[in-house]
Amino acid sequence: MKIISIINLKGGVAKTISSVNMAHILATVHNKRVLIIDNDKQGNASKMFGMHSYEHKGTEALMIEKDLNMEEVIRKTDYENLDIVCANMNLLKANLEVVLDQSRVQQTRFRKALNQVKDKYDYCIIDNAPDINISTINALVASEDVLIPVKIDDFAFDGLKEIKEQIEATKEDLNQNLNLKGCFITQFMKNEVNLQGKEYLNLQDEYPVFKTHIRRTEKIDESTFAKMPIVEYSRRCGAARDYLELVSEYLEK
Ligand SMILES: Nc1ncnc2c1ncn2[C@@H]1O[C@H](COP(=O)(O)OP(=O)(O)O)[C@@H](O)[C@H]1O
Ligand SMILES: [Mg+2]
Repeated sequence: MKIISIINLKGGVAKTISSVNMAHILATVHNKRVLIIDNDKQGNASKMFGMHSYEHKGTEALMIEKDLNMEEVIRKTDYENLDIVCANMNLLKANLEVVLDQSRVQQTRFRKALNQVKDKYDYCIIDNAPDINISTINALVASEDVLIPVKIDDFAFDGLKEIKEQIEATKEDLNQNLNLKGCFITQFMKNEVNLQGKEYLNLQDEYPVFKTHIRRTEKIDESTFAKMPIVEYSRRCGAARDYLELVSEYLEK
């Protein structure tokens, strides 16, 4: 099982939309067995599948339960090959609890839990919160690849340095298999700002960049109301075609 973290310290850059759609495409187009971990207390990835609730255990259990059986937290989505561990506000409490609990190692809890299902899935995609907290660190410690969605605006590149430093520190101390696979532009529009932002990203060599960018289309906002992955909602829209291409580029990279 290859574990991918989708991360950016900024909100609204399409971490959740990218996590959900890449996972859905890997599962339904490429026939991979995929697990999504919703690692944001906002639970937006869970909401995208209409599965946000307080009735089931979710990601908080990966953080705090010592002898957790993953079967108890993994739930089936409506899509074949695509399962999810949901999140809700309980993750906030769990994170505080972990930080206060010095009796067990704090950073390897995801890794341990996910190890149980390493033969059950081909890919695990972790949708992270716009933050570096103990559960994001757990995500990085468990992951092999990191993907950074970037939305071009005046502050687009704020925080990239901090993520890179966090990745490097995690790699050095806790997970030598961790790799920054690349940034990709989301919500792309053909205007001066986006074209310049894209050129800037392509010219710098601090961060690898995917060739594929994701176009901005209203269909994405609509798909969040419909609670459907974009390929199900509107396969022919620009963003659907771009996500299909991004996943292919990722698989070739
Ligand atoms: N390609 C796109 N075109 C139009 N709107 C988009 C696109 N990608 C994301 N959005 C919108 O941007 C907002 C933020 O996306 P989201 O995935 O929730 O960001 P994050 O998880 O980084 O906070 C949502 O309202 C979503 O509908
Ligand atoms: Mg999100």
